[in-house]
Amino acid sequence: MGKPEINVGLLGWGTVGTGVSKILINQKHQIYQNTGLNLNLLKVAKRTLPAQRTGVDLANNCLTTDVNTIVDNPDIDIVVELIGGIANSRELISRAIRNGKSIVTANKALIAECGADLYQLAQKQGVSLNFEASTAGGIPIIKTLRESFAGNKVESIYGIVNGTCNYILTEMQKNGRNFSEALKMAQERGYAEADPTLDIDGTDAAQKLTILVALAHHIKVPLNQVHTEGITKITQNDIQYAQELGYTVKLLAITKSRGTKIDVRVHPTLIPNDSMLANVSDAFNAVCVVGNAVGPTLFYGQGAGEMPTASAVVADIIDAARSINGNSHVPIPPAWASKPHSDFSIGLIDDIETRYYLKLVVQDCPGVLAQIGTILGNQDISISSVIQKEPHCKNSVSLIILTHKACEANMCQARIEIDNLEVVQEKLTLIRIEEFDF
Ligand code: HSE
Repeated sequence: MGKPEINVGLLGWGTVGTGVSKILINQKHQIYQNTGLNLNLLKVAKRTLPAQRTGVDLANNCLTTDVNTIVDNPDIDIVVELIGGIANSRELISRAIRNGKSIVTANKALIAECGADLYQLAQKQGVSLNFEASTAGGIPIIKTLRESFAGNKVESIYGIVNGTCNYILTEMQKNGRNFSEALKMAQERGYAEADPTLDIDGTDAAQKLTILVALAHHIKVPLNQVHTEGITKITQNDIQYAQELGYTVKLLAITKSRGTKIDVRVHPTLIPNDSMLANVSDAFNAVCVVGNAVGPTLFYGQGAGEMPTASAVVADIIDAARSINGNSHVPIPPAWASKPHSDFSIGLIDDIETRYYLKLVVQDCPGVLAQIGTILGNQDISISSVIQKEPHCKNSVSLIILTHKACEANMCQARIEIDNLEVVQEKLTLIRIEEFDF
């Protein structure tokens, strides 16, 4: 027999915290019916009082401004960290773990940076640390990777894991908006991080990718080893040209195994229009996981927002409560063990082989194509198609080139040489292409 009631304390009562309190209070009976657990929201800490939220009534004396009344409260079993940031959250979580509490967090920056240390501490104290909401919001991808893929070797993951970027790219493609207009709309809809640079420069997706890689490939990848490019340089023209060629531009978080190396990268990618990932629109997220036994699988849903993220947090609270009541703890991810073991090391971006979309703005005069073709040819890069648009302004044309598979290091060299050509008027735009054989 477990505890008749499991007490939960929330650190933070912003958007996600409000959603969590709504589910814990308004759906208490549903949770009991689904799990047999009695979850009691005992305390909620918020920086300033008074506070009220539509759609949920907290019990008397539940709200506090003092996080210590949660972290150090002997009656609380599970501490849910929804404050964000790294230093303060890390200190509070570490203290709560030392106090014997199980932890649930939605904090991807914290887990990406300190997941290993916090896990080891939690393991030492015999409590659980769950972080489903840190990656792809409401999509249950963490639990899926840890449990449902346990009999597979993960071969690759392709994720649309940043809703802001996906929303911007969708608005640019479907409604012809420019980048800044679309970013403003994403911010108004509440998808973006407090600092939207983290979304559009790819950092948010890279943090999520390091978490997926730790679970899928058992290797701890520091954020600075993720090759990361954001979407700030993608123009309306790139999106239209890609469409003409049958491709959609998406910001993908990619990990693939290549022998004993794994690629860990985030960058804008051309993917075929008829692929399922190309049809993931607006702020939706999707994660495609390819396992050696199961083959390709696709998980789709809302990657941000009050209730989808709260759904993932509550699922973690339920898992933690089950552990407290005697079910075994979810095992430590091998990447975060004190003596990690992985079959992989991180591959260099220079070694990948992929197809490329190249866009150039060049002088419209004889011999230009030949110069570019020679540079590509010398680097063993074969062209698969070329489009030249009628000039918009005198003596200046856009040139779109798709290549066959080529080595990244060769493409980097070709890019330097092309950018140095006198006839090139705007630096080359390069977008990698992924084609799926499923
Ligand atoms: N800013 C994030 C996104 C929110 O746009 O996906 C969820 O992590």
